[in-house]
Amino acid sequence: MILVTGATGTVGREVVAQLLVAGEKVRALTRNPSRAHLDEQVELVAGDFNQPETLAKAVEGVESIFSLAFGPQLAIQEASLAQAGQKAGAQHIVKLSALRPGGEARSTIATWHLASERAIQNMGIAWTFVQPGAFMSNALNWRDTIKSQGKVFSNYGDGKVAYIHPRDIAAVAVHALTEPGHEGKAYQVTGPEALSVGEVVQLLSEAVGKPIEYVPITDDATREGMQKAGLPAFLIDALLPYASFVRTGKGAEILPTVEEVIGRRPLTFADWAREHATDFW
Ligand SMILES: NC(=O)c1ccc[n+]([C@@H]2O[C@H](COP(=O)([O-])OP(=O)(O)OC[C@H]3O[C@@H](n4cnc5c(N)ncnc54)[C@H](OP(=O)(O)O)[C@@H]3O)[C@@H](O)[C@H]2O)c1
Repeated sequence: MILVTGATGTVGREVVAQLLVAGEKVRALTRNPSRAHLDEQVELVAGDFNQPETLAKAVEGVESIFSLAFGPQLAIQEASLAQAGQKAGAQHIVKLSALRPGGEARSTIATWHLASERAIQNMGIAWTFVQPGAFMSNALNWRDTIKSQGKVFSNYGDGKVAYIHPRDIAAVAVHALTEPGHEGKAYQVTGPEALSVGEVVQLLSEAVGKPIEYVPITDDATREGMQKAGLPAFLIDALLPYASFVRTGKGAEILPTVEEVIGRRPLTFADWAREHATDFW
């Protein structure tokens, strides 16, 4: 039995689906099982990272754990999960982390993940870290302005990023969960091509079948837009420094890890855009 946390989210849903295809038994942790909408083969367990007592029940009888948490508390949350797993006899934890280009945490979010990795490494349970760069699915944040104005506003300038398809992140995690030999490894994973926002918008426009304009904006305008969209202050403060890193052009590194681990080329942004075209109509 493999416990998947974050199982109702972007990466976790892919992890669950791919584990089922691999013939694994899956238990999914969610705060609200009635809204999970996962395959009926999945055993649902109600749990919340903010209520550590719920984690003890979730890890009962599991061999491996896929750990995905988010926010400033994630190191404490994932350490609680790893500790509960270790106590219950789980053998291996595969943690969804974040890329640290050049080995350095370039964003506040990467710093949270680094703290979590360190805590898990001290837990006495085998670990694998999957460290992705920016997700292709972040483009869904542009859905409203694409639908209403045919425009994408971004403060990434001309900086390129090797965006990764969430399915490929999940595939790396599933290999780590189901095969021997991934213990003690940290996999930095990116997509197959470095793209500027302008290039991403062009690919989206082709897939969606309507013109979409890229409008570069300042950090101040970005902050204002995020506040209006209701993003919490901690997240805005965490995201803005990443944009200035992207603008330096140093975020464009393409890594071979996905293909090395899963044995096929990573999916392209055009693949992702074709799958999601209707989200932007
Ligand atoms: N987006 C990027 O570009 C990027 C890049 C690198 C790393 N990351 C990392 O990727 C992770 C986010 O992955 P994602 O986009 O797949 O997530 P997501 O789609 O936002 O889904 C969040 C998941 O977390 C669960 N969750 C939220 N609060 C919870 C709590 N208190 N207790 C238990 N479960 C909780 C939700 O489950 P329920 O609602 O069902 O409980 C849901 O399944 C974060 O760790 C982030 O730092 C993101």
